[in-house]
This record gives sequence, structure tokens and C-alpha cells, in this order.
Amino acid sequence: MGTDVDIDRAVAVLRGGGVVAFATETVYGLGADAQRSDAVARVFAIKGRPVRHPVIVHLAHAAQLTDWAREVTPAAWCLAEAFWPGPMTLILPRHAHVATAVTGGLDTVGLRVPAHPLAHALLAAFGGGVAAPSANRFGSVSPTTAAHVRQDLGSDVDLILDGGPCEVGLESTIVDLSTGAARLLRPGGVTLEQLEAVLRVPVPLGPADSRMRAPGLLASHYAPRARVELADAIDLHARATAALAAGERVGVLTIGAPPVLPVGTSALQLPDDAADAARALYAALREADVLGLTVLLAALPDDAGIGRALVDRLRRAAGPRPG
Ligand code: TXA
Ligand code: MG
Repeated sequence: MGTDVDIDRAVAVLRGGGVVAFATETVYGLGADAQRSDAVARVFAIKGRPVRHPVIVHLAHAAQLTDWAREVTPAAWCLAEAFWPGPMTLILPRHAHVATAVTGGLDTVGLRVPAHPLAHALLAAFGGGVAAPSANRFGSVSPTTAAHVRQDLGSDVDLILDGGPCEVGLESTIVDLSTGAARLLRPGGVTLEQLEAVLRVPVPLGPADSRMRAPGLLASHYAPRARVELADAIDLHARATAALAAGERVGVLTIGAPPVLPVGTSALQLPDDAADAARALYAALREADVLGLTVLLAALPDDAGIGRALVDRLRRAAGPRPG
């Protein structure tokens, strides 16, 4: 766990325009001073992420919303009050001063107040906004431990604040409030059901404008090297048998105990409870790579509650890939 000394060093790195990887309750972030375009550009370079993709600005306190958003609606305050600090990002109309490097040229900005004590300590000591995407190379699986960050980014980062394994394990819920009524752009730790209970209106899924740029919205994302194929639990044995016969190195990912599988299949089992499964998903996808699997057959959980975020990430992992 990070100490006060670590926080002081991390703040010094940020003030110097450097890059700090830090634990949050969702996934590890790769942070830079959101007011320094040069520092944010370094984050993009390290990730290998295309520029003009917007990045989330992390804040210590909800009261700082008005420093970044020119318009904070009652719904925004309501959600902030209910779910911050926590695994939720709000998209709001931005102030004119917010750097293009952060907004990707959009008229909006993504803001989040994380709950992890280490992230909070860093943000409170730094005082300003920290722009941070997930601390992984573009298109690969988000890191949920400091070891994952080291494996992915190695010496490219100036400092890693190790806060242990991430509690939620999947990226934040993204709620777009920039076009009037709330829309769910990315399911996450705060569930659709929770959002709707607080807002007392149905929250539609997906962007209001299909021209919206957001890497987490690309079909292929959060993917291991192994090809991911979605399968019904009842078909897993037959699908694994066929893939083995075709010379594949086959893994099966299930929530709860897997069915009987053919010899030679690697079973990756996530816990029964959906929140526990969410926490363990990315480590399991990384395990698929460690095992050198060429195909991972994944059975989908129920599409409700935190399960919705699990289904979303598995669908994206199985999505068509560039190249
Ligand atoms: O849990 C999380 O959200 C983690 C931790 C580090 O906070 N961050 C994260 O960042 O997942 P990233 O960059 O990997 O994904 C952020 C998502 C992207 O899909 C991005 O396009 C979207 O947020 N986003 C950021 N600002 C936006 C904006 N102004 N409008 C629309 N989408 C935005
Ligand atoms: Mg990411």
C-alpha cells in the first residue's frame, strides 16, 4: 500500500509533468496533470492510444465539478451525491479551459471522484484534476493489480502507486449528462438499476449521437490475445471438442463451476457471485494469455446488475479485431 512518502513522490511527479500509475477501485489508472497537454500527450504515447480520444479527469471531491463542467444539472449533483466517491464517471459540458488533449476535441468532459483511499489521497494532495485512462496498452485488458501495470507498461511509467487488487475490477459506469436526459454509455460498478432508482426515470443505453468517439465503445476492446468466443454453457463441451480437434489451445471461462470438459481444455472459473466474478474477470483474461490459449470459450452471465458490465466486457473481448 502507498505511504505518505509515496503520495508526496507521486504528486511531485505529476507537478513535473510526469506520469503516475495509481490504484482506483475500478482498475489502475495512468495519470497525468489534466491541465498539462504535454503530460497528457505522454499518457497517450505510453498507451499507444490514438489521440483525439477523450480521457476521464479524476477529482478528489464532487465540489470540484464546477471547475471542469460549465453546467452541472440537478441530475448530475444527484448522481454525484449518491455514487461518489465511487465507480461512476459523468460526462458533462466542459469549461472552455479544459485541454483538447483531455476532451479529444469534444465539447464535453468526463469526470470521476474515485473511492480508493490511495487514489483519493493522491488527488487530495495534488489538488487539481488528474487525467487518467486505464493503465494498459491500447486495446488490451485493463490492469487490476500493480503487477499487471508493471507487466504492461514496465519502465515507461515514472511511478506506480500500489493499492492492492482493485475492488470492483471493471471500469467505471459512464453516464452521459451532456445531452439532457441521462444515458448509460458504459455499464460498470454502479448498475443501471441503481442509476434509475436515483434518477427515477429509465436510463437509455448507448450514446445519443453515434458520432461520439470513445475507445471503450469500440467493438473490440478489453481483449486477451486468445480469440474470445461466446458460448452457451450447454454447448461448451462440443465447442471445446471441435476446437481441440482443430489444433487450438482451448480454454473455457465460466461463472461458477464449469460443466464436464474434454481432456486438454483449460478451465478458467470465475466465482458464482457476479460482483466477485467482475473482480476476477481481467485476471482470468490475462491468465488465458499466460496459458498461451488460442481460443477462449466464454459463457455469458445474466445481463442484470453488475452482470451487465461483465456481459459488456465479454462481448467486447469477443468483438471483431482490427487487422
Ligand atoms: O474506471 C475507469 O473509468 C478507469 C479508471 C482509471 O478511472 N478509467 C478508464 O479510462 O477506464 P479509459 O480511458 O480506459 O476509458 C474511459 C472511457 C473511454 O471510453 C472514453 O472515451 C470515455 O471514457 N470518455 C471520456 N471522456 C469522455 C467524453 N467527454 N465523452 C464521451 N466519452 C468519454
Ligand atoms: Mg481503457
